[in-house]
Amino acid sequence: MQNDPLAARLAEVVGAAHVLTDPALTASYTTDFTRRFGGPARLVVRPGDTGQVASVVRICAAEGVPVVPQGGNTGLAGGGVPRSGEVLLSLRRLDGLGPVDGTARQLTAGAGATLTAVQRHARTAGLDFGVDLAARDSATVGGMAATNAGGERVLRYGTMRANVAGLSAVLADGSAIDRLSGLPKDNAGYDLTGLLVGSEGTLGIVTALRLRLVPRPPERTTALLAFGSLADAVASLDALRSLDSLELAEFFLPTGLALVREHTGLPAPFTEPHGAYVLVEYAAPAPPVLDLLADLERLRDAVVAADSADRHRLATYREAHTEAISAAGVPVKLDVTVPLPDLAGFVTEMESLPATPYLFGHLAEGNAHVNLLGAADPEAVTETVLRRVGRAGGSISAEHGIGTAKVPWLDLTRSPTEIAAMRAVKRALDPYGLLNPGVLFPARPSGQG
Ligand code: FAD
Ligand code: MLT
Ligand code: ZN
Repeated sequence: MQNDPLAARLAEVVGAAHVLTDPALTASYTTDFTRRFGGPARLVVRPGDTGQVASVVRICAAEGVPVVPQGGNTGLAGGGVPRSGEVLLSLRRLDGLGPVDGTARQLTAGAGATLTAVQRHARTAGLDFGVDLAARDSATVGGMAATNAGGERVLRYGTMRANVAGLSAVLADGSAIDRLSGLPKDNAGYDLTGLLVGSEGTLGIVTALRLRLVPRPPERTTALLAFGSLADAVASLDALRSLDSLELAEFFLPTGLALVREHTGLPAPFTEPHGAYVLVEYAAPAPPVLDLLADLERLRDAVVAADSADRHRLATYREAHTEAISAAGVPVKLDVTVPLPDLAGFVTEMESLPATPYLFGHLAEGNAHVNLLGAADPEAVTETVLRRVGRAGGSISAEHGIGTAKVPWLDLTRSPTEIAAMRAVKRALDPYGLLNPGVLFPARPSGQG
């Protein structure tokens, strides 16, 4: 550290223990979850509060040094790891949790608080947080806001944007906005909270959030459903939604199930293989769910969780996909939305790609996670898939963000006018291009936003 004056200056702000330059200590910050993205950081700095975040950003801005904000480093689009010598600013120490406001059904959380910590805290007051995803033990609510994370319960509670009532953030010049009041109606001027949610660390660094909470259902019924094909599962979705307490409908296929079973050692869920599987969960007791399943024409088989251990087993068949795939190799990960009528056909087409496909995802939203192992030319196969999605009128990013991974293909889902407008916003808020350059748009020569 002694030979980098920037490290020394930052140590004066956050303390020497929270400025890391030793590669052995920075390694876990500089490579992403998939092991596909990452690069050297000039240093890793770990501020402890909003004021320290602002001071760090001011010092880096004065030196013209770009900053990559990072939360739990579970992001899957290459946006939260350094590329070439940026300062990696970790928000993990900002993990404070304010009191649960039972009347407003809100709580204030530091950006570095994990999803699990927020869920546990909300549940102490009989409430819950509506967004849930399998990376809950590591993903932070700041990172989830930055990517506008979706997860498993979007069909009932929406994405992060619908569950964030306000936030505080540090802007590129080190100034800070504080909109944590959480007022139910507050329509004075532009929605800066809504703008920063989903901005992937390119417009501001979120330091705290005012989160909306939801009532915790007295009971839930979880079931794993087996269908002859994904087309049959899609055709059954309306019937599954006829019980309006449906909270979750996650699909996966025999190929992914086999990999998950190999990775986890779990037994087969049914006595024979089927064409497609859907994990469902209802905020309701079992009888109405059993009645609904009894009338489901295309259903081949079903297993209903008898207790929480069973629920965990059934959920693991779906939730262990990401880990099982990463254990089998370094995947090209695409996270697309495809219009539901096209979903089954799209999934079938993926099987003819020059790679081994594992597809699964969030059924009700038509959000398919296309994970490709062994792709000899990741760029070419990405292009093929994303052009196919563009032609179908889908989105090249359903919930993971554009990151650095999908920058060249943004124009498949956004018009030139939209991209120009987004660039204008970026230039206005980050005129020197210091916040997460290379994410969402190609990095510009330093000093230009
Ligand atoms: P990071 O990975 O640290 O960062 C992600 C992005 O946000 C980067 O661009 C980073 O620069 C920026 N960022 C981070 N913190 C801040 C901040 N405080 N202020 C400004 N910018 C910031 N995602 C889903 O949407 N749905 C899923 O169902 C889902 N399931 C997953 C399952 C597994 C097993 C794994 C490993 C990942 C999954 N993800 C899912 C992806 C990931 O969990 C989300 O993208 C999550 O939002 C990332 O949070 P994080 O704190 O890890 O952010
Ligand atoms: C998930 O839903 O589990 C992740 O978003 C998907 C992925 O790992 O590709
Ligand atoms: Zn997902």
